[in-house]
Amino acid sequence: MNQGKRVGIVGAGNVGATVAYSLAMLGSCHEIILRDNKIEVAKGKALDMSQAAAAVRSHTVVSVAESMEELTDCDVVVVTAGSPRLPGMSRDDLLMINANITKEVVSGIAKYSPNAIIIMVSNPLDAMTYVALKESGFDRSRVLGMAGILDSSRMAAFIQEKLGYGGGQIRASVMGGHGDDMVPLPRYSTVAGVPLSDLLSEDEIDEIVDRTRHGGAEIVGYLKTGSAYYAPAKSTAIMVEAILKDTKQIHPCAVYLEGEYGYDDVVSGVPVMIGANGAEKIIEVTLNDKEKEMFARSCNSVQTLIDTLNENKFFEEA
Ligand code: 2OP
Repeated sequence: MNQGKRVGIVGAGNVGATVAYSLAMLGSCHEIILRDNKIEVAKGKALDMSQAAAAVRSHTVVSVAESMEELTDCDVVVVTAGSPRLPGMSRDDLLMINANITKEVVSGIAKYSPNAIIIMVSNPLDAMTYVALKESGFDRSRVLGMAGILDSSRMAAFIQEKLGYGGGQIRASVMGGHGDDMVPLPRYSTVAGVPLSDLLSEDEIDEIVDRTRHGGAEIVGYLKTGSAYYAPAKSTAIMVEAILKDTKQIHPCAVYLEGEYGYDDVVSGVPVMIGANGAEKIIEVTLNDKEKEMFARSCNSVQTLIDTLNENKFFEEA
């Protein structure tokens, strides 16, 4: 019956609602279904967004699922549900709270939208992507985490700010987990094809790398009661669109590694070719010794979180 593309969004807070709004404005899909425990608020946002879609002559309709049972047959499901990051809180503090929420949500997705591609957004991002993969039982190509696009965009914005020019021409590259030891790669960052090292001093580049690593916390520090949502949501929408339009473009995303970069059974951010089948190809970039060391540190941080989940017998519970 339903021939159009359906995108489910679990968690209609700032990030989830802004993902929905971005997709609705672009007319990327036929239907967006919001699922949130605050049903009335979700209904209000859905109506508001459907009306905004009508204003821009987009065909997208935004509706609400009152339970996971109603989130059926989605092509893509974005998971933003979870406790947000508050000032002074690291992404890792959220581990157990959000792992339990993710477990419940993902088992619902696996049941009611068994063919969906899952995009995880909840923090700590890489660990939650791991949880989603294990709980869904999906092939790793169908479980991706959003962070690399966000972190690279932050780095690009900081490069533009530092240079005072080049906006829209910057390709910044960030790999690794979405944590304080993420791996910004100045060596693979360019402005209109010009290497960053030809435009900025080493100190300036170090400053940008450091600011990128703490880009999320910088915004939390200003907002006080929550974390960033415009760039996280837009980055998520870019992934959804790449899947729906089968673009086969490369984006940095968190995926489960099976030997790539020498890592196994861990999730980390790496360049991924995205298409209708999700993460269709994992790209292996050549890293120098220093970059390898940073990537190792980042993977180890994610591994520590996975170890904590295992120590708490998280994956053994019924
Ligand atoms: C961010 O980086 C909180 O992970 C979120 O903005």
